[in-house]
Amino acid sequence: MEDHRIRKVTVLGGGTAGWMTASYLGKALGPDVTVTVLEAPSIPRIGVGEATVPNLHKTFFDFLGLDEDEWMRECNAAYKMGVRFINWRTPGVGEGKAREHRGKPDHFDHLFGLLPNHANWPLSHYWTAERLAGRTDEQFDYACYRESPILDAKLAPRHADGSRWTNYAWHFDAHLVADFLRRFATERQGAIHVEDEMTEPVIDHRGHITALRTKSGRVIEGDFFVDCSGFRGLLINKAMREPFLDMSDHLLNDSAVATAVPHDDEANGVEPFTSAIAMKNGWTWKIPMLGRFGTGYVYSSRFTTPDEATRELCDMWGLDPETQPLNHVKFRVGRNRRTWVRNVVSIGLSSCFLEPLESTGIYFITAALYQLAKHFPDKRFDQVLADSFNREINTMFDDSRDFLQAHFSLAPRDDSPFWRACKELELAPDFKHKLAAYRAGLAVNMPAVDETTYYANFEAEFRNYWTNSSYYCIFAGLDYLPEHPLPLLEQRGDLVAGAEVAFAEMKNKQKELLATLPTHYDHLRKLHGRQ
Ligand code: FDA
Repeated sequence: MEDHRIRKVTVLGGGTAGWMTASYLGKALGPDVTVTVLEAPSIPRIGVGEATVPNLHKTFFDFLGLDEDEWMRECNAAYKMGVRFINWRTPGVGEGKAREHRGKPDHFDHLFGLLPNHANWPLSHYWTAERLAGRTDEQFDYACYRESPILDAKLAPRHADGSRWTNYAWHFDAHLVADFLRRFATERQGAIHVEDEMTEPVIDHRGHITALRTKSGRVIEGDFFVDCSGFRGLLINKAMREPFLDMSDHLLNDSAVATAVPHDDEANGVEPFTSAIAMKNGWTWKIPMLGRFGTGYVYSSRFTTPDEATRELCDMWGLDPETQPLNHVKFRVGRNRRTWVRNVVSIGLSSCFLEPLESTGIYFITAALYQLAKHFPDKRFDQVLADSFNREINTMFDDSRDFLQAHFSLAPRDDSPFWRACKELELAPDFKHKLAAYRAGLAVNMPAVDETTYYANFEAEFRNYWTNSSYYCIFAGLDYLPEHPLPLLEQRGDLVAGAEVAFAEMKNKQKELLATLPTHYDHLRKLHGRQ
């Protein structure tokens, strides 16, 4: 019988995507498949991409058999309990500190996990009933989640004994992650690492790639090729000629200026969250790690220049633009029409990119790898596999694109041409239905599983990635409220009254956690052996 099995997988690119791909496929496909990574040392990795989402450990590192504390130490990782959106409601210049908004600091949190339920309905719906009736002016995140006061106090997502009490993700050094995974893939899984620059692919009569030629004259063969060459898309866009669908009609930002700022952790503590600070022409990330934070202004080149953006970023953190090392990045927003074409699949920036808000970049890589393993072909390349994979990736991407677009279009800010232009962009029809459902008091994407299984079951999470909890955090956070509560709750005043117990329990839990948790800084020092 003819043997159709794929024997050689060749990965072009050694950034985060390339090494995640080599490690994941090495494990998923087993030792009979040789994975080769071709990486050009002369072409630098993008080097940004430091904030993640909670499924990374379970779906990726745990799958590889890597212990969380081990990889955290290798990658100078810190914890992230959510994203704090700062100054998205109040006009003004870029400021790291929240301005005042209706007597409170202008910030709100997008937290992980699912909202607690009371009598089958998420707390969000009781909060809405209370808020619209004028019975509470407490912000949604502080009322419905345990985490927001813990974020204020810069405490850890784990108890002193190391046990976790909440869902969390990580901040890490992108270069350390790629290097750690390179060592893992080459030393523990037998991946072959070739340091050379690809000059051209060799393509056969079917249009399949059979090998990559390099600058120094090597010919690297493969049955299946993964394009991880970053925004260049050398195999998918150039060799396969697959069009990249530009989505700048949904999201205006296309540039960033990034840097790292030293931080006095001893004096100030380490924030256990990513900050997304609204600016005149976009927003700035702040990603704390031990001893420093990564930061970058994500802006639209239609509304400002690299120099102007650099000045705004440096003014905000008190940096000197003449001496501060700065990384200017121009990015493309959108996705390939098809992510997988013939025997080439694109993963990472060569496949799709939104913009960094909500840290979807590494999540998209993880999700694509999971889907690739599920759809992995043999040499017959059944088109059904590629079509099914491509549908999954397109849905994943477009759904996230619409959610991100809503952050900008619903933000009350309209104090600059950038913010006003965001409101003029058309939302996708499917997303308009979601907004209408929310306005009518319904839960948008009620999760199909409960809190205990949500992050344990990637298949379920993938199908329901942005749940009612995420939509509520952002919509209610931006002061965009339903027009009326869920009609059933208006009818059942007894349920609404009963939910007071759940809200009171939340307050007690917050107090207990505030009194007992170690600081994020102390926990990290212990973890990284720096005390
Ligand atoms: P990357 O560009 O890093 O790597 C490309 C590789 O291809 C390099 O190794 C290069 O040498 C190689 N190569 C290119 N041409 C070659 C040739 N001819 N021959 C051989 N090799 C070649 N994501 C996230 O999850 N959280 C976040 O906070 C952010 N933040 C963020 C900010 C900004 C401004 C951007 C633009 C992106 C992010 N991301 C992110 C996304 C994240 O950075 C990205 O998903 C990963 O770094 C993956 O990058 P790649 O490996 O795809 O490309």
